[in-house]
Amino acid sequence: MAILLPGGAGYIGSHTAVELLNKEKEIIIVDDFSNSKPEMIDKIKQITGKDFKFYEVNCLNKKELEKVFEENSIEAVINFAGFKAVGESVKEPLKYYNNNVSGAITLLQTMQKYGVKKFVFSSSATVYGTRQEVEYTEKMKRGETANPYGTTKSMIEKILEDLYFADNQWDIAILRYFNPVGAHESGLIGEEPQGIPNNLMPYIVRVANGTLKELSVFGNDYDTPDGTGVRDYIHVVDLAKGHVKALEKLEKEGTGIYTYNLGTGKGYSVLDMVKTFEKVTGQKVPYKIAPRRAGDLAIYYADPNKAKEELNWQTEKTLEDMCRDSWNYICK
Ligand code: UFG
Repeated sequence: MAILLPGGAGYIGSHTAVELLNKEKEIIIVDDFSNSKPEMIDKIKQITGKDFKFYEVNCLNKKELEKVFEENSIEAVINFAGFKAVGESVKEPLKYYNNNVSGAITLLQTMQKYGVKKFVFSSSATVYGTRQEVEYTEKMKRGETANPYGTTKSMIEKILEDLYFADNQWDIAILRYFNPVGAHESGLIGEEPQGIPNNLMPYIVRVANGTLKELSVFGNDYDTPDGTGVRDYIHVVDLAKGHVKALEKLEKEGTGIYTYNLGTGKGYSVLDMVKTFEKVTGQKVPYKIAPRRAGDLAIYYADPNKAKEELNWQTEKTLEDMCRDSWNYICK
């Protein structure tokens, strides 16, 4: 029985593929390379020394997706197929609702048709919305999302809850990622945003290697220890391992729907990140203070205890590891 990974050639999908293969799981990757490259497939094979099936399919293509289910014996699906650029989602909301929400529905309908009812979903801390409490726990209700990207995550969570309510034979894990950074220690797979990056770490590494001139620090007048924004950065390999643990729970337990924060529980500021990066890599990261970025929150981080207690999962890597591995990837 195989684990199907739609979007498995992408940043988080490829790292999870490696961790599953390391655990001797059989996997199948489905990807349309809309935000990844075919060479990722070979690199996953190179890192693990293991082979697996791959299909170039978009999750909106029901016919092609059904063919994958027809030809294979699939036990569970971990869905990474989704667009994730916040700014782009504001400009092109229909593209995001169609790809993320309709894509997830098509996938779930196909699973239903073939009687596959174990599903792990890539959600985001963004579903908590704007709130006073900065340590997010799963007990909190979803909040008002700030952009269409966040709304797609929130909508899919709701769809999954409704699906489980209608048919409690489903077995669902919703994983709320905080800020994934870093890369596999081999330097073979990592994050490769197209164009100028929006996120902090991909921007920092491109300033450090001279591709970009300087970092703009978006605001230094927030109510945080050094005035810059604070986030819960999580190493992508720790995050990938969280998926393996969630899958193991679904394999072991009776049916249910479970939601987990995947974060470290620690908040670091933009300047903490810059200083740590400079210390670990020996590279200078020139920066200037710029105005606040619209839609940014001052500070938030995870309460990671539920995942620790129920999944026996916790992060192991440090901010130093995150900086070193991100730099190692771009150098390679
Ligand atoms: N930042 C800068 N300069 C930059 C980029 C970012 O100062 O060039 C700052 C931001 O203001 C923020 C911090 O660095 O304080 C982190 O910003 P990111 O863009 O890396 O990440 P966000 O927290 O804004 O968003 C991330 C993901 C979203 C997801 C959200 C979940 O990009 O997909 O976390 O909470 F929705």
